Amino acid sequence: MAMNYSDKVIDHSLNPRNVGEIEDASGCGTVGNAVCGDIMRVYLDIDENQVIRDAKFKTFGCGAAIATSSMATMLVKGKNIQDALAVTNKAVAEALDGLPPVKMHCSLLAEEAIYAALWDYAEKNGIAIEGLEPPV
Ligand code: FES
Ligand code: FES
Repeated sequence: MAMNYSDKVIDHSLNPRNVGEIEDASGCGTVGNAVCGDIMRVYLDIDENQVIRDAKFKTFGCGAAIATSSMATMLVKGKNIQDALAVTNKAVAEALDGLPPVKMHCSLLAEEAIYAALWDYAEKNGIAIEGLEPPV
């Protein structure tokens, strides 16, 4: 099946930004897609003002999953939690100039991984954050 990937998707899959781990991360979230088997883990370093100082990821998955992890971590860096929660999978896909329809779920994985890491942070610190509920 032929797929049209944008130049940005190709760039971020071949040269992903923010690959790695954060030791003693403020929050860490791991999600997977049972159908394709791809797994994504996001680490967040959050400062005392609830601003995301750093974001890193490790993704075992397809090129689109790597590209969306790369873009999602870029987009949330420097944002506060509320603004990071507003980084939807659509926003990630748009920032990459689009994804083929069958690859949209890869961007959802990125949104879910960020969410899971934010939840982990909130839970660890016992703080309630508007719009943040236990992931299902
Ligand atoms: Fe083919 Fe992820 S499903 S690489
Ligand atoms: Fe499933 Fe990309 S194919 S995350």
